[in-house]
Amino acid sequence: MTKGRFIALEGGEGAGKSTQARLLAERLRAQGLEVVSTREPGGTPGAEAIRHLLLHGVDTPQGTAGWNPRAEALLFAAARSDHVETLIQPALARGAWVVCDRYLDSSRAYQGGGGGLSDADIVTLHGVGSEGLLPDLTLLVEIDPEVAAARLAIRDADGTDRIGSRGSDYHARVATAFAAFREEDPARYARIDGNGDADSTAALIWQAVSRLIEVSAA
Ligand code: TYD
Repeated sequence: MTKGRFIALEGGEGAGKSTQARLLAERLRAQGLEVVSTREPGGTPGAEAIRHLLLHGVDTPQGTAGWNPRAEALLFAAARSDHVETLIQPALARGAWVVCDRYLDSSRAYQGGGGGLSDADIVTLHGVGSEGLLPDLTLLVEIDPEVAAARLAIRDADGTDRIGSRGSDYHARVATAFAAFREEDPARYARIDGNGDADSTAALIWQAVSRLIEVSAA
């Protein structure tokens, strides 16, 4: 029997991760595998409730309020803890494949690179919240800033959330952080060129993932 695997898709805004996560899950299912498709922040009722707090803020008499960078990092870690404990770990334990749209590296890139927390602190929070669970493979979907800007102009025409709407400096730091992760630890990542259309990006992803199926089935 093929062993379950945990695959995360990571990257900045407009990289096309959500479309690719859906296409990948469909393709794995077509191989006869049980696949759990999920996303962060969210994926379970508890984590989706925290997602709402993070992406929409809270109403106060002075208007909508957000969180300081440390509280934000703790909320992401809390959401992830619930997600790992109640959805991801049980799925992997029964041999299912998990395809997750964003995971720990988004916290390292956004709350760390973007928000200024240290990488060591983010990783410590992950150790506490989720016993340090890492994906078997992280697909890092990379796109040029102009391609991202053009896609976001269409996707976010009606507005975006509290994190997506941060300034270009913030998102540049996020992109730099993602690039640094794969330089530091190339074995954990597959770099995916996301500049092409959805089908060509899906083909690159399938090349990276099918190696995992061969290894798992061996
Ligand atoms: P979502 O609409 O799911 O984003 P996208 O379509 O860009 O993937 O919103 C998730 C937002 O939360 C996105 O701006 C990235 C951010 N985020 C963090 O800042 N830290 C995290 O750990 C995660 C998982 C997401």
